[in-house]
Amino acid sequence: ALLLYNRRRRKAGEPPLDNGWLPFFGWAFKFGKDPLKFLNLQQKKHGDIFTSYLAGKYMTFILDPTQYQYVIKQAKHLDFREFANEFASRTFDYPRITEAKFPQLRDNMHRIYKIMQGRPLDKLTDSMMGNLQHVFKWKFSQATDWRTEKMYQFCCDIIFEASFMTLYGKDPVADGHKLISEIRENFTKFDAKFPYLVLNVPIALLGATRKIREELIRIFFPNKMEKRSEVSDLVQTRKNVLDQYDVLQDHDRAAHHFAFLWASVGNTIPAAFWALYYLVKHPEALKAVRKELDHLLQSTGQKRGPNYDIHITRDQLDSLVVLGSAINESLRLCSASMNIRVVQEDFALELEGDQAYNLRKGDIVAIYPPTLHKDPEVYEDPEAYKYDRYIEDGKEKTTFYKKGKKLKHFLMPFGSGATKCPGRFFAVNEIKQFLAVIVLYLEMEMVENKILKQDNSRTGLGILLPESDIKFRYKPRKLVS
Ligand code: HEM
Repeated sequence: ALLLYNRRRRKAGEPPLDNGWLPFFGWAFKFGKDPLKFLNLQQKKHGDIFTSYLAGKYMTFILDPTQYQYVIKQAKHLDFREFANEFASRTFDYPRITEAKFPQLRDNMHRIYKIMQGRPLDKLTDSMMGNLQHVFKWKFSQATDWRTEKMYQFCCDIIFEASFMTLYGKDPVADGHKLISEIRENFTKFDAKFPYLVLNVPIALLGATRKIREELIRIFFPNKMEKRSEVSDLVQTRKNVLDQYDVLQDHDRAAHHFAFLWASVGNTIPAAFWALYYLVKHPEALKAVRKELDHLLQSTGQKRGPNYDIHITRDQLDSLVVLGSAINESLRLCSASMNIRVVQEDFALELEGDQAYNLRKGDIVAIYPPTLHKDPEVYEDPEAYKYDRYIEDGKEKTTFYKKGKKLKHFLMPFGSGATKCPGRFFAVNEIKQFLAVIVLYLEMEMVENKILKQDNSRTGLGILLPESDIKFRYKPRKLVS
């Protein structure tokens, strides 16, 4: 009763407040079960902006996408770092980054992210293409007839190995495929517990997770890193930055590398899965993508020979409008990363027109992109997969409307503003390359005719995983000689 009595009351100028029924947990239970449904119900009750009490936090949701930019540009009053820092250091096991202890470390690391964008991305992209085809050749050169596999496992094997080699190079002594698949198995086990770690469940309660995490961190100890060849400029530069900080122990530096590994494949694997799943599930989409790719090969004078040595440059990847649209469409359907900011001091958030809302220090402001991605006013028939949704007059479509206004933000799988994913161009390229090689070389069809649901346990954290794996089969397409 005391808890109930103590609960917050709405003050003048604040957004509508909904405390929920249960003290402390507030609406968390309902939110966790089906966040989109919960938010849409709250929206009906309170309007586009409201504050809900979720698991001990007051969260103000902004549901009107025409207002997103006013939140995103508020870097001074709305900060994300504290939140990300706390959760990342706990999850990946490195000391919290503070300016006092690690002067400029954060800025230095952010500067490196440029290597994932613009022209430097060409090199990373070429390297990825080589590694993907290396994995494909190893995996498929024996295949002659239909072969059945589980699709998620298939995507995970290929993306993990190709990404790992592209970023971290090769281990010159060990059997590459075997070593990487051992790392991948550990990674998958750790990743399965990732949502619990984020929720602050003590790692001691998560079975072997602590041991597995330690093994993953050990891969990146200096003595191991130094032996690797063909390490990407990106990882090498990051290593050089970390090496400058004597206050970091070997273990801490390795943990930073491990965190980067997670960032680089944790979302890319499920995103590549959904992109492939929807293509195979929709033969007309697969056909259109294949036509575009066959045409590209033809126009660049390349043939699909047995050696898996097709070359597609970054500029050519950019020109693949149909493939790009198909990937965007799957990202629209499977991404659920919550964009979170912490209010630094009491202030009034000014939105378009004369609207302003008072917010309190320590509260959280959140944008949850699925409310936009599944909004029927923005995306007609939002539950349907339409591979050509992002194409207009043969070009990429970027005009989407809400309340008659053109939206600045219409697709947000990668976060926003200061926390926007620095790897997003590389990620989309990787998925394009992965699909390009598969679609060019393989015939594919579903074996099971079930409709996959999403597993909601990663709501707010990024790309959702499927509730279960699904079988499909493939065989090599006839080669062109
Ligand atoms: C951060 C999504 C792939 C590197 C983020 C964030 C999101 C995201 C939503 C921001 C989290 C926040 O708000 O705090 C995705 C998705 C991907 C993807 C959906 C694939 C489809 C990648 C790849 C890399 C990468 C391939 C690197 C090779 C990073 C890093 C950060 C980050 C380093 C942290 C940035 C910081 O320090 O502020 N990603 N990401 N991501 N991502 Fe990605």
